[in-house]
Amino acid sequence: MPDIIDDITSLKKQKNATILAHYYQDSEIQELADFTGDSLKLARAATRVDTDVIVFCGVHFMAETAKMLNPEKRVLLPDLQAGCSLAESCTASELARYQQMLREKGHRFQTVTYINSSAAVKALSDWVVTSGNAEEVVRRIPPEEEILFVPDRHLGGYLEDVTGRKMILWDGACMVHEIFSVRDLLDMKRKHPQARTIAHPECPANIREHSDFIGGTEGMLRFVGGFSAPAEFIVATEVNMLWQLKSRYPQHSYHPVPGITCACNKCPHMARNTLEKLRDCLLYERPEITWQPEFERARVVLQRSLLN
Ligand code: 13P
Repeated sequence: MPDIIDDITSLKKQKNATILAHYYQDSEIQELADFTGDSLKLARAATRVDTDVIVFCGVHFMAETAKMLNPEKRVLLPDLQAGCSLAESCTASELARYQQMLREKGHRFQTVTYINSSAAVKALSDWVVTSGNAEEVVRRIPPEEEILFVPDRHLGGYLEDVTGRKMILWDGACMVHEIFSVRDLLDMKRKHPQARTIAHPECPANIREHSDFIGGTEGMLRFVGGFSAPAEFIVATEVNMLWQLKSRYPQHSYHPVPGITCACNKCPHMARNTLEKLRDCLLYERPEITWQPEFERARVVLQRSLLN
């Protein structure tokens, strides 16, 4: 292990690279990264990087976003197959057809797209949001306009709850957050009656309704950071988030909510990035995210949505 970490550290210097890692990456990758964050923080951090190369330890849409916001940088992703069930649930052709059908029926709407989507889908959107800014963006849209929210129906449902705004929801879901077991969550709450339950807004309503706090990964860190005396938290999000919570706030105890078929809920796409692949991608400078024609339009939407 130490050898590979030394290799990565020296390759990083040699190649003038910065490593960004999402909180859902394995702990050894988060530990090595120059910046860790949620989707919003990492997209913004990518625009402030002063090295020639960005290695994005996350999933494909995140690296693609970093490339769109920094066309002049080389953006590497340790495993190009690191995808996202949400992004897969909404293709650009399906979205274009649906938008066309709504227009023909006389709907006047803006398309608000979760960042967990392809560049081609972002290019068809008015706004791109993350769990960190979605509520603020939705509140800014004039009430006379309808909202088409894609692709996460659970995040969309949560936004409807907090803003009171009905939206047209795409039928996508995150494979990690969709399968938390409500029965296990209720058992855990009985076993740990003092614990506060924190849940990501990608969770279905039946998990959110039993939660004391709902927020993205950065929001969770802020919430937990508000408790100084030792406390207990039941956590409904990807299990690697617990490492980040424990390392920042070790005085507390954390219990992951199990999935329906697994003891803890891990994103198989995020898990594709390993230390070996991180080392190799620095060494060979690939896989690389290359510029695509749809990036230009998507970039305008991203800049308007995330950087203003
Ligand atoms: P945040 O990064 O906004 O917490 O969302 C998590 C996620 O969807 C990663 O794919």
